[in-house]
Amino acid sequence: MAGPLPQPGILDISPYVGGESKVPGIDKPARLASNENPLGPSPRAAEAYVKAAAELHRYPDGGATALRNAIGAHQGLDPARIVCGTGSDELFALLTGSYAGEGDEVLYSAHGFLAYPIVARSAGATPVTVPEKNLKTDIDALIAAVTPRTRMIFLANPNNPTGSYLSIGEIDRLLKALPETVLLVLDAAYAEYVDREDYTAGHHWVDAYPNVVVTHTFSKIYALGSARLGWAYCPPAIADVLNRVRQPFNVNAPAMEAGIAALADTEHFAVSKAHNDRWRPWLEERLTKLGFTVHPSVANFLLVSFLPYTAEDVRLFVKSKGVLIRQMHSYGLPDCLRITIGTEDELKQLVAAIEAFLFQNESRDFK
Ligand SMILES: Cc1ncc(COP(=O)(O)O)c(C=O)c1O
Repeated sequence: MAGPLPQPGILDISPYVGGESKVPGIDKPARLASNENPLGPSPRAAEAYVKAAAELHRYPDGGATALRNAIGAHQGLDPARIVCGTGSDELFALLTGSYAGEGDEVLYSAHGFLAYPIVARSAGATPVTVPEKNLKTDIDALIAAVTPRTRMIFLANPNNPTGSYLSIGEIDRLLKALPETVLLVLDAAYAEYVDREDYTAGHHWVDAYPNVVVTHTFSKIYALGSARLGWAYCPPAIADVLNRVRQPFNVNAPAMEAGIAALADTEHFAVSKAHNDRWRPWLEERLTKLGFTVHPSVANFLLVSFLPYTAEDVRLFVKSKGVLIRQMHSYGLPDCLRITIGTEDELKQLVAAIEAFLFQNESRDFK
């Protein structure tokens, strides 16, 4: 008996494999594999989450009104055009399910976030990768890859796992060339970490074009990954579509309360940002001095090429010392590893582990 068949495309999906979180025999490994905020959530957000537990028997506000109002006030945006989701992942899936289907193409850059091909295939559409230049989205290649079958483009800006970003001028150029029937999703998961004058998450493009959506997450600088909370700023017609297809109570109440409290805790935000600003250059410098190629990053992680060593050997060695970093095979970058900016102790532990790796390998070479 064959049993029921899933929809076309579903069995072509490679399930997403998240960063490792455990090391056998080590109680508290340094977790530098999932781009989380190492300082943890705002205590005020955690308190709000716990407080909401007293009302677990109540359905949440299906319209996420208080959260949308808080985001709107925080960002200077119309709450009516904000749609919240169970992580931005849910919003990617809802957008793709609404705007792409069988026979359609969904573009993303060669080393783009791996959630995009998953949502494309789930919708029955074909994910198409576009080559990058120097580990950065190539706008000309992207424009050239648009065909009459292209329905959507996903761009993480900054991009995970490369850490590179696209400037305002580059996205302007893309939008001028893009047919308005093609939906551009700008995934701004790491936007809060970026300090570049030629960068913006891009809300003004949502106001100017009918085919641009910007997504955000509470999983990164706001440190609420476990609560699963994301939001999209949309043109009115797209917000209307998302509000039709999303589940009536797609975001849970404790997560919404935590999100509202996290937005209000500007001090925790500033401390988190300052931590990243201090330790990303520190790690970059240490790894460069050890002889590795560190790709320029504007986010809370670094992509590092460990040539001439085998990246997997480095990863397993530092894992044996209790430090978890992310392998990059599935992103087509087998010589690289991605390292999240952790706490000071975690980063020092990592550098010591890499030095021990080098010492072991170099002394072996001399034998
Ligand atoms: C580029 C990018 N977008 C989105 C996400 C996921 O966000 P969320 O936790 O809101 O689903 C991640 C998480 O790693 C990411 O790297």
